[in-house]
Amino acid sequence: MSRSAHPAGPRHADVLPEGHYSAPPADLNALDPKVWAQTVERDADGVVTVGGMAVTRLAEEYGTPAYVLDEADFRARARAWRTAFGTDADVFYAGKAFLSRAVVRWLDEEGLNLDVCSGGELATALSAGMPADRIAFHGNNKSPEEIERAVRAGVGRIVLDSFQEIVRVAHIAQSLGVRQRVQIRITVGVEAHTHEFIATAHEDQKFGIPLAGGQAAEAVRRALQLDGLEVIGIHSHIGSQIFDMSGFEVAAHRVVGLLKDIRDEHGVELPEIDLGGGLGIAYTSDDDPREPHEIAKALTEIVTRECEGARLRTPRISVEPGRAIVGPTAFTLYEVGTVKPLDGLRTYVSVDGGMSDNIRTALYDAEYSVALVSRASDAESMLARVVGKHCESGDIVVKDAFLPGDLAPGDLIAVPATGAYCRSMASNYNHVLRPPVVAVRDGEARVIVRRETEEDLLRLDVG
Ligand code: LLP
Repeated sequence: MSRSAHPAGPRHADVLPEGHYSAPPADLNALDPKVWAQTVERDADGVVTVGGMAVTRLAEEYGTPAYVLDEADFRARARAWRTAFGTDADVFYAGKAFLSRAVVRWLDEEGLNLDVCSGGELATALSAGMPADRIAFHGNNKSPEEIERAVRAGVGRIVLDSFQEIVRVAHIAQSLGVRQRVQIRITVGVEAHTHEFIATAHEDQKFGIPLAGGQAAEAVRRALQLDGLEVIGIHSHIGSQIFDMSGFEVAAHRVVGLLKDIRDEHGVELPEIDLGGGLGIAYTSDDDPREPHEIAKALTEIVTRECEGARLRTPRISVEPGRAIVGPTAFTLYEVGTVKPLDGLRTYVSVDGGMSDNIRTALYDAEYSVALVSRASDAESMLARVVGKHCESGDIVVKDAFLPGDLAPGDLIAVPATGAYCRSMASNYNHVLRPPVVAVRDGEARVIVRRETEEDLLRLDVG
């Protein structure tokens, strides 16, 4: 078995990787609903609109680059996950994908819970009024201060990641007179990415406690003895951008095996299991993600079947989708600055952002789509590469793109499916200012995270 994290070909290739985008799309003006947010369409004048607002107007009012987020789409996806899992399961949105106070309020209103993995994410959640008992606190190295803050706030669960943390959280909870609900994160020896997974040897990583060698069982044994902890279940997260459910199947099998061992040894049936996040989305038309209801059905069936086999009561399931909820809801709007044809190779299209607002292409060889959005064009297509304005040749936003051959400075182009892990991983490299997040809904736009200013940069620099 092999692993394929983000199949993409060589990073600096002059030519398209074999078998990849062999032909330009039939219609460059078409917007594939798989990769664009739900309300995105092209109006009669050829201008792309989202939530009823033209991108040209958004660019005028809010500038570029900007992340434009379709609020109706976000809510619809959150609701779809909630409905798919029903009331016997819990959906925790993974805040690391993208978190802001507006997002927290939408999640609260749509009945989702929230997974946070740092003091900063916890502070954002609490400041927006997310009820603490609907927050799960993650992380492989939570500081004692973070733990104390989470316990004091009354978070619904802390996901314990190491033997030391078991003791640390127990001690802090006990000293505060609290019995903290916890899950224990284990590594089941499965790592899944995209279409493939590896079912051996992937315990060599920083997260969780390995199932192998009885370590996870020992962790549960210790946690069950500590007064400060109420062990509610086992947690497993197997990877990112997964389309293939077989990795979850193996993970569930192994988690249920542990639940059975715990029952046999301690007479305790832990009531919950969390299968993490990692469900894939379409970045290009080649990707075929599953719908939430299919995922819910598959996961529920797997866990139920495994529990029946082990004669266990089926535990309450929780999941932690991040990318699958927010990823498709946003696109990044850029203005084209320069268009540089390189004879016999391709045309380099430079935009006013780059690796500071989307590091995923440089970091993971991630693939994206792109379209001209400020007008329609019937020009011939050209093979392009969309690059940023940073002082680095790896500053690539879309490695292999087909765009209309009449693309010119001043045109607006947009890269869809940038809602997850773009703003949340944005940097100030080259002192470039991080773009705003503009939420659009029913013909109205609202800034939910404002654009960074030079003043913001200089405020941190104390001279
Ligand atoms: N739960 C846990 C415990 C996680 O570690 C993660 C992601 C999630 C849930 C949410 O996974 P999602 O459904 O969003 O795939 N920066 C990378 C992704 C790193 C994900 C880390 N953990 C990227 O841009 O692809």
